[in-house]
Parts: sequence; structure tokens; C-alpha cells
Amino acid sequence: MKLFVDTGDIEEVKKAASWGVIDGVTTNPTLIAKSGKGFKETVLAICDAVPGGDISAEVVATDYDTMLKEALEVSSWHEQVVVKVPLIEPGISLVKTLADKGIRTNVTLVFTVGQALLAAKAGATYISNFVGRVDDLTLDGMEAVRDTVNMVETYGYSSEVLVASVRHPLHVLEAIKAGGHVATMPLKVIEALFKHPLTDSGLERFLSDWNKAGLSIG
Ligand code: E4P
Repeated sequence: MKLFVDTGDIEEVKKAASWGVIDGVTTNPTLIAKSGKGFKETVLAICDAVPGGDISAEVVATDYDTMLKEALEVSSWHEQVVVKVPLIEPGISLVKTLADKGIRTNVTLVFTVGQALLAAKAGATYISNFVGRVDDLTLDGMEAVRDTVNMVETYGYSSEVLVASVRHPLHVLEAIKAGGHVATMPLKVIEALFKHPLTDSGLERFLSDWNKAGLSIG
């Protein structure tokens, strides 16, 4: 499974990158606005911080011609940029156009397997299936992920299912069980994946026993 960090904060990206287990970064207009910095400078800094990673940068227009102009602009910034496109009618047309040009896309705001089918048929590189926002409505957000992974694999589409709107470690566990190809999450969720009280107490005991015995390495 690929692990992406979902943030527009370059310091968070650098911290996540320092572990060496991050495959990419997703941003969205809200996260970029929250960063307080310019869009292009933020995206380029993120590309530098995660060499070779897939960095999603979202278009903000909602008509085909302007979306295409924006998509060509953001994809020209860096080879690592993946154009993030909302699942609306001109968005799907755009994904098809970009796929034909060899430009990679991440179709966002996907909530149903029907939407995911359209994205897969258009040639999306990633299909971002949002989970937390559905759970917020007291529904099972992971159901669409399970169905979408099954759909993509049954019909052999090349799209990867990206589990998005991940809010806590249990979502990560469920995403793995569902066979999601990618999961994107805030830095705090990745940090939570490290933690287990038995890891902390076990390490404390190992070090205490070692030190009491007066041992050293080398
Ligand atoms: C992913 O690409 C989205 O930016 C993100 O996962 C949305 O998460 P949220 O629903 O917690 O805002």
C-alpha cells in the first residue's frame, strides 16, 4: 500500500518524508489556503521534500476549458505533479483528455462506486474515495472503498484506489482490509500509527536491563 500525507504544510511534509516511508502528498484548495503560502511555491517545495513522490495539486475551475488550462499549468510545474480533478462532468472529460496526453490525474470527491467507474473509464491514475466525510453522516464510508477496489480489480482498470478523508488509525486498518492501493492521511494520523503502549514499556524495560548490566555496543 502506498502511504501519502494529506497536507499543504511543508514542515509536516518534511517530517513525514524524514521517515522514508512516504510515497506522495495530497493537497486540496482548503489545505493550500491554510498553509498561508502561494500554490506554486508550496507544490514545488513539497516536490523537493519528497523526491520521486506523487504530489497532487488540484484545479479550481469548474468549466472544461479553464480546468484544462489550469491542469496544463500545474502539470508543467514539476514531473511529480499529479493533477487533482473533482468528479464533475467536465472533470471526467478533462481526465480523459489528460490521460490521452499521458498526464496523471487524481479524481477527488468520489463517494460512490458509480462515480469511481466513471473515473476509472476516463483513465484516472488515482481515484480518491473519501471515507471520513461519509462516516460523519453516520454511514459506512469504507463500503464504497471495498466496492471500488472490487470493481477496479474485476474489470482490470489501471486506476489505483486512494482512500482519502482518513481521520484515525482504524480507518487505515480498514483501508488495508479493503485492499485500498493508497491511503492519504494527516500527519497526526501517521504519527498515531507508530504508537503502542507495549512498544513504549517494552523499550523502557530493554534499556533498563541493558544499562543495569553495564553493557555497551562497540
Ligand atoms: C484528500 O485528497 C483530501 O484532501 C482529504 O483526504 C480530505 O480529508 P477531510 O475530509 O478530512 O477534509
